Amino acid sequence: MSRAGNPPFGLPPVSLGTWQLRGRAATRAVGQALALGYRCVDTATGYDNERDVGAGIRTSGIERGDLLIVTKFPEEDAGRERETLLRSLDQLGVDHLDLWLVHGPLDPDGSLAVWERFIEAREAGLVRAIGVSNFLPAQVDDLVARSGVTPAVNQVAFGPRRLDPALVRHHTALGIVVQGHSPFSENDLRHPALRAAAGHHGRSVHQILLRWHVEHGVPVVAKAASPAHLAANLRVHEFALTAAEVEAIDRAADDAWTGAAR
Ligand SMILES: NC(=O)c1ccc[n+]([C@@H]2O[C@H](COP(=O)([O-])OP(=O)(O)OC[C@H]3O[C@@H](n4cnc5c(N)ncnc54)[C@H](OP(=O)(O)O)[C@@H]3O)[C@@H](O)[C@H]2O)c1
Repeated sequence: MSRAGNPPFGLPPVSLGTWQLRGRAATRAVGQALALGYRCVDTATGYDNERDVGAGIRTSGIERGDLLIVTKFPEEDAGRERETLLRSLDQLGVDHLDLWLVHGPLDPDGSLAVWERFIEAREAGLVRAIGVSNFLPAQVDDLVARSGVTPAVNQVAFGPRRLDPALVRHHTALGIVVQGHSPFSENDLRHPALRAAAGHHGRSVHQILLRWHVEHGVPVVAKAASPAHLAANLRVHEFALTAAEVEAIDRAADDAWTGAAR
C-alpha cells in the first residue's frame, strides 16, 4: 500500500518538557522558556496541563508559525482519538498541532487502529505531522508495513542508560527522527564519565548530558521549571565533547528501566 508519508520533520536540539508541571508553574515555565529562546514545547493529554501550557504559549507573544507544539494521545483512550485531539487543540488554544504522538504502543491491531485515526487527523489539517513514542523498532515496522505511513518521530527514553544505536540506525534508515526524553531523570547523574566531562568543560552534568545527545544527533526533551536550569539547558552549542568523552559516556549504558516516566 502506498500512501502519503509524513513530511521531513525538524526538531530543535532541546525542547521544553512539561511532565509534572501544572497550573501557574506550568504557564510561567513555558512563558520563561519561550522568552529564553525555546521554540518547541512538549506536553501530553496525560500530563493534564495542556490548558496551562497553552496559557504560557499565548502570553509569550511568539508567532504561532515560529513554534512547534507537540502533544501525545494516551493510547488507553483508543477509540476516542478525534474528541481527544479536539480537546487538546481547545485547551492549548491552537487550531493545529505541529506533532501528535501516540504516547505508547498497544497490541499491533490496537496501534494500527489508532494510527489510522492519526493519519485522518493529518489529512484533515488538524496536525502537521504524526509520530509515536516508546515504540520498539519491530512495532514501528509493523505499523509502517500495515498502514503505509511512516511516523515522523519516535520519542523514546534515550541517554547513556538507554543508548540504543541499533534503534537509531533503524529509524534513520526510515527517515524517522529519534527524540530523546527524560535526559536527567532516567540517567545516573553521578556517573564518573559525566562528572569528568563536566569538570573538563566547566559545565554542569546536565549540560554534558544534553551535549551528549547533540553529539549523537538526537534532539532531546528536557523539563525545567527553574529559570537558571531553563537557560543552562539551551547553552549546548557553547562547547563540544571530545570523541573520547562521548565514548566514555556511552559506556555508562545500563539496561535498568523502570518504565515510570511518561
Ligand atoms: N514520551 C514519553 O513517554 C515521555 C516520558 C517521560 C518524559 N517525557 C517528556 O520528556 C520531558 C523530560 O523528562 P522528565 O520530565 O522525566 O525530566 P528530565 O528533563 O529528565 O529532568 C527534569 C528534572 O531535572 C531538573 N533540571 C533540569 N535542568 C537542570 C539543570 N540544568 N541543572 C540541574 N537540574 C536540572 C529539573 O529541575 P527544575 O524543574 O527544578 O528546573 C527537574 O527536576 C518530560 O517533561 C516530558 O515532556 C516523555
